Amino acid sequence: MPGGADGPTPWALAADLDLAERVARAAGEGLMERFRGPAQGVERKSTETDLVSEADREAERTVAEMLHDERPEDGMLGEESADEAGSSGHRWVVDPLDGTVNYLYGLSAWCVSVALEDSDGVLVGVIHDPAGGETYRATRGRGAECNGRPIAISGHDHLPTALVATGFGYDADVRASQSRALTHVLPRVRDIRRGGSAALDLCWVAAGRLDAYFERGGHAWDWAAASLIVEEAGGAVDRLEGEPEGLVAASPALLPELVELVRAGEANARP
Ligand code: IPD
Repeated sequence: MPGGADGPTPWALAADLDLAERVARAAGEGLMERFRGPAQGVERKSTETDLVSEADREAERTVAEMLHDERPEDGMLGEESADEAGSSGHRWVVDPLDGTVNYLYGLSAWCVSVALEDSDGVLVGVIHDPAGGETYRATRGRGAECNGRPIAISGHDHLPTALVATGFGYDADVRASQSRALTHVLPRVRDIRRGGSAALDLCWVAAGRLDAYFERGGHAWDWAAASLIVEEAGGAVDRLEGEPEGLVAASPALLPELVELVRAGEANARP
């Protein structure tokens, strides 16, 4: 493993973070050029509500080319491509466009998510939000920042007054079950937000703009970079076991109660 038994050196971590940011910005630049222009090459993926366009594909090509050039031995998992194994023990986990539906409708909540993992988990994470003019970055054990300024979670610990974000999958059966679980959660929190980009929801938890997030059915590329950003901003994340897997993020004090509430809602939701 690069960095030896004691882990990566500060120099190596700084280089990883710099590369993650350059890659996210390069993909974001191409996406901004096409944003609110005529959508091209739009195709359905898992269902007719799950879309991909030429913008997503081009952004992922940009990321893949830069990473292959600069880190040919690293693996890469991208939303629009196969999981490529590398030989270095490092893998990039990339969502070239999180919030595809928002993007295609001209809504500004979308971002590029780039994470680098080693055998201990995510090492560095960058979420670049070009339309919002914000770039979130975190390095394991070294804190999180937005546009160069340190960020911290709200620290909110009272569930009935917590502002909670969530998201929905693209499969109608999964959505039906999610909506029944939501019926249990909604009367027990301040309110719910559905922003349309899981990675940005998590960054907003990290920045204290939302108190918590939960969703069953996201993917590694939606969560990898943003989970590290939440943790490094003082938050906690927990996986919801099952198929599909889920994720909950909140302050450490709020997390167990929210996990319990979501699980209770899901138990009610089961037919
Ligand atoms: C989706 C968004 C959405 C979440 C879905 C994701 P995509 O990602 O993050 O907020 O609810 O679960 O699939 O499809 O826009 O990359």
